[in-house]
Amino acid sequence: MGMYEDVFRASTEDPESFWLDAAEGIDWDVVPRRALDSSGAPFYRWFPDGRLNVCFNALDRHVDAGRGDQPALVYDSPVTGTLRTYSYARLRDEVAVFAGALARLGVERGDRVVIYMPMVPEAAVAMLACARIGAVHSVVFGGFAPRELALRIDDAAPKVVVSASCGIEGKRVIAYKPLLDEALELAAHKPEKSVVLQRPQAPADLGPDDLDWADLVAAAPPAECVPVSANDPLYILYTSGTTGKPKGVVRDCGGYAVALHWSMGAVYDIGPGETMFTGSDVGWVVGHSYIVYGPLLVGATTVLYEGKPVGTPDAGQFWRVAAESGVKTMFTAPTAFRAIRKEDPEGTLAAHHDLSALRYLFLAGERLDPETYRWASALLDVPVIDHWWQTETGWPIVANPVGIEAAPVKPGSPTRPLPGWDVRVLDASGRPAPEGVDGAIVVRLPLPPGALPTLWNDDERYIASYLSAFDGYYLTGDSGHIDDDGYVFVMGRTDDVINVAGHRLSTGSMEEALAAHPDVAECAVIGVADPLKGQVPRGFVVLKAGAAREPGEVEAELVQLVRDRIGAVASLKDVAVVAALPKTRSGKILRKTMRGIADGRDEPIPSTVDDANVIDALRPVLRSTGDGGSNT
Ligand code: COA
Ligand code: AMP
Repeated sequence: MGMYEDVFRASTEDPESFWLDAAEGIDWDVVPRRALDSSGAPFYRWFPDGRLNVCFNALDRHVDAGRGDQPALVYDSPVTGTLRTYSYARLRDEVAVFAGALARLGVERGDRVVIYMPMVPEAAVAMLACARIGAVHSVVFGGFAPRELALRIDDAAPKVVVSASCGIEGKRVIAYKPLLDEALELAAHKPEKSVVLQRPQAPADLGPDDLDWADLVAAAPPAECVPVSANDPLYILYTSGTTGKPKGVVRDCGGYAVALHWSMGAVYDIGPGETMFTGSDVGWVVGHSYIVYGPLLVGATTVLYEGKPVGTPDAGQFWRVAAESGVKTMFTAPTAFRAIRKEDPEGTLAAHHDLSALRYLFLAGERLDPETYRWASALLDVPVIDHWWQTETGWPIVANPVGIEAAPVKPGSPTRPLPGWDVRVLDASGRPAPEGVDGAIVVRLPLPPGALPTLWNDDERYIASYLSAFDGYYLTGDSGHIDDDGYVFVMGRTDDVINVAGHRLSTGSMEEALAAHPDVAECAVIGVADPLKGQVPRGFVVLKAGAAREPGEVEAELVQLVRDRIGAVASLKDVAVVAALPKTRSGKILRKTMRGIADGRDEPIPSTVDDANVIDALRPVLRSTGDGGSNT
């Protein structure tokens, strides 16, 4: 264990030297002399005197070093039958031209650009092009509905939106342009232009403020990299909080580049010329960090996969991708493996492919259940590495850093904190929880480079959400414990955030959507365990007195309402009309109790309950598998 412990100790005993050493992995326009600036605590700044360009580090420097012909990005799209490889030189050139096009539209350093795109290489090109000219991108996941996109447009106030005419979801073609148009109607902020990538599967009609990607790049000169401060924002990524208003996680340029570059070697064991395949989406943090920026910062090859783990067309696609691209490190969410296992329980499809290059499978985004861990380990015969992190942190907090030293795995634990992360477990009063006892998982401030410096335009919410619960600590929102070997066990969220198929969603925002229905008096949405998606939401509503409607009819409307307002990704398929919701005497809905009963636990009824009969009446509905059904 010596090596891990030595590296970890170095990061805690002398973080200045540790992170200045790590910063040598980056090419700076002005090399930072200081690592951490605590003068504005609790707003910490990393590498405050450094200047750099992240796009230069991700692309140009590899071309300049003579590796322009090496594959940078492999676009593997079984849904369109495309396999296209971009060398570093080609990707650099395409990014430079799109950056030039954005500059021609008036996009300058610090301006925001919202990117609402499917998994096409142009999404990565648009992100890197923003980075090239110092603009701030905000990618919005394609599964979100127009209203969610509009919320993000209003918060980020972009000068330009970049989108595509359509996305391909399994076997369906989803027209994006009408969704974008609706979002722009709903938004109070009006971007100056929309750039639309026309795809042959469903070309869009363009309006007067729309520009065709192809026309734009045909006329644009390439743009040079603009050096920016290490503390300039690289992107804003919105994530679910407890309310309907998403949190705009800010990512800085310098700290993120240093941390990601360091993590590629230390955690994922990927270096120049090696291939990483991250099966996620550029709309999530996993996609930002380990489809786009991380692999490119180290000069590796990244696979951008447009498809699903199953059904596009079969459960063998991940193995095909791994074999054809010579993938060394694969990374996805456990739910993808549960989906594959459901289709191909014996894993026979894997046997058709040469997986000899595959060295590791990394899983994150939700708890890795021991069953999936064992199945994947037996099938692939490589280390299966659970690791825990969040949109806010940008890179893993707890992992088994195989690039430093592989530790023995304990199923159910993502192993130990990575260097830079001082992870503690506190009880409700803020005292350290005894070893092995669950409590709030927190990280002692300052957070390492790469983690969020604040929320976009909302320092107050940053403090209220993350720093106010326990003085001097960042609240992760997860609960769990640390055992006597220092292994962290992450058990679940303590707030209204749920993880559905590895997608982070807010039950609070689903409740807001349900409450908007004219017949709904009150409602609760809880996340319940699901064998495939990990968790799925279930809604319970009480209708207004006198609402003379059939419960079944209202239930169907409510499912559609959430889909329309939040998006298909919300996956709320089950809403039940009930007579009453269980509450405390002060009127707080007992969601935790409901969740426990729904998950089949022997949930104690809190002494503060207002009317225990309400729980008894609800018990059969909660215990049902969740196929709706009213209980009025
Ligand atoms: N654009 C439009 N719609 C989308 C979308 C997108 N980018 N992504 C998902 N959706 C839709 C889906 O089509 C589905 O619609 P439906 O209810 O009409 O069937 C709905 O949103 C729910 O999507 P999802 O929860 O992903 O379910 P699924 O059945 O389509 O796929 C998995 C299930 C497990 C195969 C898939 O979620 C998966 O591969 N997850 C793991 C990888 C991952 O993305 N992890 C994220 C963080 S690492
Ligand atoms: P996101 O911000 O979408 O990455 O989601 C972060 C949340 O996902 C965390 O706060 C956890 O609740 C959950 N999560 C991510 N990785 C893991 C993991 N390896 N084990 C348990 N929960 C995880």
